[in-house]
Amino acid sequence: MNKLFLLVVGFAFSMSNISYAGDAKAGAVKAATCVACHGADGNSMAPNFPNLAGQGEPYIIKQLTDLKANKTRKDATMIGMVAALTPIDMENIAAFFSAQKLKIKPIPMSDAIKKGQDIYRGGITGVNIPACIGCHGPKGEGNPGAKYPALSGQNQVYSLKQLKDFQSGARFNDEKSVMRDVVKRMTVDEMQAVTSYIAGLK
Ligand code: HEC
Ligand code: HEC
Repeated sequence: MNKLFLLVVGFAFSMSNISYAGDAKAGAVKAATCVACHGADGNSMAPNFPNLAGQGEPYIIKQLTDLKANKTRKDATMIGMVAALTPIDMENIAAFFSAQKLKIKPIPMSDAIKKGQDIYRGGITGVNIPACIGCHGPKGEGNPGAKYPALSGQNQVYSLKQLKDFQSGARFNDEKSVMRDVVKRMTVDEMQAVTSYIAGLK
């Protein structure tokens, strides 16, 4: 009886693993076409390509789904990459990249980085720009369950483009307009400062 009970529990556990998490090994195979830009270990090859290492699985799946739908987030390069991916492929690829280790180069403190740190931690008072830390976390770790992306160590060129895209409305896949509201009144200088800070944040 006991053995049977354990067998049943063990089976239920492995079933739940299958249905809630992607298969990183299968994902590694599918990711072969991604590594030229995003790196074999999810540490990207150029500043305009985002790092995917350590990024939350639900967030990666959401972005791949949105990029494939090609409405609220469009990218001329990525559209070709996601076209053939099924929802299961997306889960597996997300599991693979999420499990990789992000490499972050420390960035020395300067006036611009300090300005970025102040915005990240405290927002900008008077113009209603909230602190980034509230959603993206003290170390830029994000909140995987809530699909708040990790920003820690993200390439500055990439992050700046995203903020500009949210501001222009080119990217509008943020639920309840959260990011569009955040950047609405930000200047390019402020975006530059906060994304420079993020690039070294860990
Ligand atoms: C030729 C280069 C290239 C290849 C190959 C490529 N990507 Fe991308 N990827 C990009 C660029 C550029 C962006 C940023 C688009 C933008 O500016 O919004 C991006 C964005 C992404 C994002 C969004 C990340 C975020 O933080 O929001 C994900 C996820 C992603 N790619 C996954 C993949 C996967 C999975 C593959 C392989 C199936 C792949 N990419 C192949 C260039 C590439
Ligand atoms: C209320 C929560 C919230 C706050 C506050 C917030 N963000 Fe975000 N941010 C999000 C969410 C959610 C997304 C992802 C939207 C989506 O689903 O594509 C996001 C996306 C981003 C991205 C794109 C990440 C990527 O990999 O493409 C950047 C960059 C970013 N935020 C920077 C900031 C900065 C800088 C601040 C502070 C000035 C900030 N955020 C404040 C919730 C927030």
